[in-house]
Amino acid sequence: MFTPTILALSLFTTTILAHGNITSPPARLPGPSMSSICGPAAVAAINADGTGPLENIPSNGSPACNIGLCKGAQFADNAAIVQQYAPGEMVNFTAQLPIPHEGPCNVSIVDTASNTMIETLLVFDSYADENLAQLPLNNTQFSVQMPVDLKAGQCMQPGECTMQWFWFGEGAQQTYENCVDFVMTA
Ligand SMILES: *[C@@H]1O[C@H](CO)[C@@H](O)[C@H](O)[C@H]1NC(C)=O
Ligand SMILES: *[C@@H]1O[C@H](CO)[C@@H](O)[C@H](O)[C@H]1NC(C)=O
Ligand SMILES: *[C@@H]1O[C@H](CO)[C@@H](O)[C@H](O)[C@H]1NC(C)=O
Ligand SMILES: *[C@@H]1O[C@H](CO)[C@@H](O)[C@H](O)[C@H]1NC(C)=O
Repeated sequence: MFTPTILALSLFTTTILAHGNITSPPARLPGPSMSSICGPAAVAAINADGTGPLENIPSNGSPACNIGLCKGAQFADNAAIVQQYAPGEMVNFTAQLPIPHEGPCNVSIVDTASNTMIETLLVFDSYADENLAQLPLNNTQFSVQMPVDLKAGQCMQPGECTMQWFWFGEGAQQTYENCVDFVMTA
């Protein structure tokens, strides 16, 4: 009598956790700096499900905490995983989308200090469409080309710029983000 109920419950639990994230290149993760800026509950929410949406992450309300930029994850916790890219270089991404939700997606270079977009490198008008029998391969394996037209010196300091994957599931009204920190080598 109990087994089917427990099975159904555990399936349901799996369903409400796990939506998607970037698996390569290495993307920002939460750490002590995020904990001090956004609060331990925000870090705990990400650690409970690394693929969950921004809407599941409680901010402590501090003006310094912006869950909308890189899920609130801080450069200071990720200084060891800064990637180096040359102008024009193709960068391959892999993502996992265990629970797709149709909506737009893009990959953009963001100025972290001002949270403004410097350049958008890739746009999907429709991404992670759960109504398709199979997702296009480019939803989980895609490439972007690094710009050749940045200003001299731009994005050359670690932490100055980040490359943000952004996806909004229309039906679920849920937002997903991951940030790859990088420096341009020239
Ligand atoms: C992606 O989610 C997994 C859990 O499925 C987690 O272990 C990993 O740290 C997450 N990675 C990022 C970059 O968010
Ligand atoms: C990126 O992907 C392309 C096409 O799949 C492949 O030819 C290339 O070798 C990959 N680059 C790296 C650095 O893995
Ligand atoms: C990228 O996605 C964000 C969030 O939907 C949106 O604000 C921005 O306009 C998008 N950029 C492009 C070029 O589509
Ligand atoms: C992804 O692949 C689909 C199916 O082949 C194609 O229609 C779409 O234009 C591709 N999107 C991007 C951003 O490459």
